[in-house]
Amino acid sequence: MATPHIACERGDIAPLVIMPGDPKRAERIARDHMEGVKLVSDVRGIGAWTGTFDGVPVTAMASGMGVPSLSIYATELYSQFGVERICRVGTCGGISSKVKVKDVIVAVSAHTNSSVATIDVPGVSLSLAASYEMLRGAVDQARRAGRTVHVGPVYTSDFFYSARTDIIPALDRLGTLGVEMEAAGLYACAAAHGKEALAVLTVSDHLKDGSGDLTADERETMFADSLQAAVAALKA
Ligand code: ADE
Repeated sequence: MATPHIACERGDIAPLVIMPGDPKRAERIARDHMEGVKLVSDVRGIGAWTGTFDGVPVTAMASGMGVPSLSIYATELYSQFGVERICRVGTCGGISSKVKVKDVIVAVSAHTNSSVATIDVPGVSLSLAASYEMLRGAVDQARRAGRTVHVGPVYTSDFFYSARTDIIPALDRLGTLGVEMEAAGLYACAAAHGKEALAVLTVSDHLKDGSGDLTADERETMFADSLQAAVAALKA
C-alpha cells in the first residue's frame, strides 16, 4: 500500500513518528541516534527512516516547511499508516522577552494565520492544542536534562518573510512565546484524526533583538536535548 507521498507498506511505519522540518535532519536523527534503521520510503526527497530508540520502534520523517507540506505527511501517516503520535522537533523565533536563544519551548497550543483554524467548522476559530501526556513527557525530560523550558502558546505563521511584523507585539502581550511555521497544522491534523501531537521547539533566533548567531556545536547540543525531550514525549 502506498499513498501519493509515502511509498511503503503500512507496517513499515512505526506508530510513533519524530518529525523535524528538514529531511537531512531526519536522516541524521536516524543514523546518529537510532538503532536498526531502514529507509522505508523516499518520495520527493522526504525519507522515512524506521528503527528504534532504546528498543521502542519509531519512524523519523521530515515535514518539509510550512502547514501545507506538514499537513500532507501528517494526514497520510495518521489516516493510512496507523500512526498514533507525531512529535515535531524544530526551531522557532523568540517573541516573548521571557524566552532566550537556546531555550526550549513546548507548544501547549498554536495560534495561526493559516486557514486550518477556521476552515473545518464555519464561524469557529478552533483551539489547536497539544497532547497533554506527550507534553508532560517532553517537559519532564527537558528539565531533567537541565534545559530552560517554557510551556505556552506559539504562533504558526504561513510566512517566514512577512510585512505584518506589526502584529508581533499583540501576540507577545497575549503570552505567545515564539513563532514557527508548522505546529498549528500538526495539531489540526491530530484533532481531525483523533490522534496525538506535540511540537518541541528550540529558540534559534529572537525577534526582539535579532540575537541567534549560534555555532555549529551549540546547535548540535541544543538539538540533542530537544530530540531526547521529543522521544520522551513519544514514549510517554
Ligand atoms: N523558525 C525559526 N525562526 C523562525 C522565525 N523567525 N520565523 C518563523 N519560523 C522560524
